[in-house]
Amino acid sequence: MSASINSRVDVRLEALTAKPGLQAHSLLPDNGSGRTFYLETFGCQMNDHDSEKVAGVLVERGYRQVESPDAAGLVLYNTCSIREKAAHKVFSRLGLYRGAKEGKIIGVLGCVAQQEGEVIFDRAPWVSLVCGSASYQKLPDLIGRLEAGERRVTGLDKDTDETFETEMTRRDHPFRAYITIIEGCDKACTYCVVPFTRGPERSRASENVLTEARRLADSAYSEIQLLGQTVNSYRDPSPRRMSFSELLTAVAETPGIRRVRFTTSHPSDFGADIVQAMDAHPGICDHVHLPVQSGSTRILRAMKRTYTRDEYLERIQLIRGARRPISVTSDIIVGFPGETEQDFADTLSLLDAAQYDSIFSFKYSPRPNTAAQHMTGAIPEEEQGRRLAIVQDHQRRIQTTRNETMIGQTVEVLVDGQSRRDGQWAGRTSSNRMVNFTSLRPGLLGQYHLVQVTGAGPNSVVGHHLI
Ligand code: 5AD
Ligand code: SF4
Repeated sequence: MSASINSRVDVRLEALTAKPGLQAHSLLPDNGSGRTFYLETFGCQMNDHDSEKVAGVLVERGYRQVESPDAAGLVLYNTCSIREKAAHKVFSRLGLYRGAKEGKIIGVLGCVAQQEGEVIFDRAPWVSLVCGSASYQKLPDLIGRLEAGERRVTGLDKDTDETFETEMTRRDHPFRAYITIIEGCDKACTYCVVPFTRGPERSRASENVLTEARRLADSAYSEIQLLGQTVNSYRDPSPRRMSFSELLTAVAETPGIRRVRFTTSHPSDFGADIVQAMDAHPGICDHVHLPVQSGSTRILRAMKRTYTRDEYLERIQLIRGARRPISVTSDIIVGFPGETEQDFADTLSLLDAAQYDSIFSFKYSPRPNTAAQHMTGAIPEEEQGRRLAIVQDHQRRIQTTRNETMIGQTVEVLVDGQSRRDGQWAGRTSSNRMVNFTSLRPGLLGQYHLVQVTGAGPNSVVGHHLI
């Protein structure tokens, strides 16, 4: 377990330094000159990508990114509030700056900023900037006001179409890039803060997305990940009125783009046209992240997920009917208020029926500004922990069996790192499986290679390079 975590860290560092001309901005050394910022990101891929935009706009304004908060004049935390623990982490980070020296600007960005607003100033009076994701375009102005002597500034609008000029985005990865196609969320899952913190759904014009895809391809990016909280609820605001599956196809057809991923899909908006697009275009990766949350229709109703267990499993059937095998992954919440032993058993049996390739699983965490916050029937933390361990153990066995079926197969991986520890290469299949493999050849980073799979564990497979 720890080995795979170590190798993931190595992967990132080495991949970041792999491409000449593209510097890994989070690793820039601090030479002590000019205005500097430190930016730490918590949470989902949307936040990762938002941080790339924030870094871009600050660098454009003459700021230089540094590795350590001590070396920075501006310290920013891009925060997550999806579960209580994540939100807590931010306040413990902020606690480090109690009594920080004059002149250092501490800022809170992202979901905690949006959720807590000016209350952050009360809890951590040394913070002087609070800015939610829909207001990042205002960041340079907000920082300018602080530099001019204002003590506290906020950007807390929610329903804006503002995004940064995407050319400015400072991408963290040299050959895999994110494109946000839809911001916010119009669903109303009773446990979830996202509609509150990220505001209503706003889709980006298809031509705009395609222009960015072409620009990325010109800069040698070969894998694009289309992002949205409900990516497949995309509705083109431009007269072209492209559907999500048409946009997916058009991105996949962009010359130079070899792989297109998309996340996260909402089951209610997942139609046959997406599977047909995947069938027609091998460049659309054979992976769908389709969070179910619970296997019990009763709980799904209480969560306002807008589908039943059977309707969800019909979507899985649709995906299993594709011409090539498609990996399906999911999110599971255990211990939602009122979850009985029978509801929980339904979640376990759904894992068997769905045969996921991996899942993220969580204990339900009550959040402010959500409908479930005041629901009765809270499940004690200890019982939530018991259910979580059972879910994870159950799924681990399913995954091991699924991964074992790959032994003997040849798979294509995009190589994205090398472990410092044992020199093994790491890459991902189109289905997003992690493959660790040996090779006699150097310099594989960012390239596509064939690997023969020789062994399997629950979270990855191993093999050797077929030269
Ligand atoms: N408690 C636990 N898990 C949550 N998620 C969202 N809100 C909560 C919450 N209040 C999980 C869901 C979602 C994933 C991103 O986080 O499973 O799909
Ligand atoms: Fe949250 Fe539900 Fe929207 Fe996903 S679909 S972001 S879980 S409200």
